[in-house]
Amino acid sequence: MHKIPVGILGASGYAGRELCALVSGHPGLELAFAAANAQRGETVRAGAREVTFVAADDAPLGAAELVFSALPHGASAAWVARVRGAGKRAVDLSADLRPGNGDHTAPYGLTEANRAVLKGAEVVANPGCYPTAILMALLPLVEQDLVRPGATIVISAASGVTGAGFTPRPDLLFAEVTENYNAYGVGNEHRHLNEMRAVIAAAGCDVDLLFTPHLLPVARGILATITVPLVRSLDDPLAPFRRHWAGEPFVEVTPLPPTLHDVTHRNVVRMSAHVAAQMRTPTLIVLAAIDNLVKGAAGQALQNANVVLGLDEPLGLPA
Ligand SMILES: NC(=O)c1ccc[n+]([C@@H]2O[C@H](COP(=O)([O-])OP(=O)(O)OC[C@H]3O[C@@H](n4cnc5c(N)ncnc54)[C@H](OP(=O)(O)O)[C@@H]3O)[C@@H](O)[C@H]2O)c1
Repeated sequence: MHKIPVGILGASGYAGRELCALVSGHPGLELAFAAANAQRGETVRAGAREVTFVAADDAPLGAAELVFSALPHGASAAWVARVRGAGKRAVDLSADLRPGNGDHTAPYGLTEANRAVLKGAEVVANPGCYPTAILMALLPLVEQDLVRPGATIVISAASGVTGAGFTPRPDLLFAEVTENYNAYGVGNEHRHLNEMRAVIAAAGCDVDLLFTPHLLPVARGILATITVPLVRSLDDPLAPFRRHWAGEPFVEVTPLPPTLHDVTHRNVVRMSAHVAAQMRTPTLIVLAAIDNLVKGAAGQALQNANVVLGLDEPLGLPA
């Protein structure tokens, strides 16, 4: 099979390393370059292969058909512009081009929801990790007009430590995190809220989102617990989700609450829905789990690249 060359900026970070490993095992892609900043010149194992990082300024952008940018927010947009200047496509994993984050014109890469506009796109804004889990769980209810207008959707979600990136921080030391559990960004101000609000509003749903993230003492994985006031009670709480995501290979709808063990190292969103008993307003509790580095970052980016490049969408992805 002819292999399409792709490059990775920010390849030495958590999302970038995951991408290196996925690209190494992809039957239709080959790694044209893997670029880093402080870690330039270092060699690491990525999946079954070794990868040596070049400096971002030395990255041969023109040698790739598509470049993934796994750079931090703020740094990424300028690099995406350089990639575009070299006439190449880009999938941006940062928040820079996402809806609700300023000047967004790139298609939003929540693949299952936006496949039609992603085909042949020049640039894709890959979703954030929390928004991937939360929006995939909410869109079936939103698009079937089941959410009570004007309601508050309460979201409590917890992420493993890789969600914070590779930069050392005292609050992420092993002794601080292990056997511990805490909320952060309390006050409904997490930066992912803009993205989620923008997508929900664009779908025509008028609600408030109240989101509190937590830090889990594990390396990877997100579990979101989402409480949704409904317009009417549901006899079968799973039916809207099964209907909406029918035939999707990377969406699992299950009667049992999903666990992190169900999803880590896999490119899936796994969700369940449960009727809340003894409520005056009909209310659904929706649970969604993903691997933040796979479906929440590198896996979904690769899924989008497959769509953009006209490859089979599931190619090279861990199901
Ligand atoms: N981690 C997740 O779960 C996750 C999920 C979804 C989306 N994302 C997004 O993906 C992006 C990467 O996240 P991450 O967690 O992988 O971050 P990270 O571990 O901190 O990695 C950042 C990467 O960017 C490089 N870098 C930093 N500043 C640079 C600069 N000025 N020029 C060139 N390279 C530079 C770093 O290189 P050196 O280390 O060599 O300096 C590293 O490779 C972020 O925008 C993040 O929001 C992350």
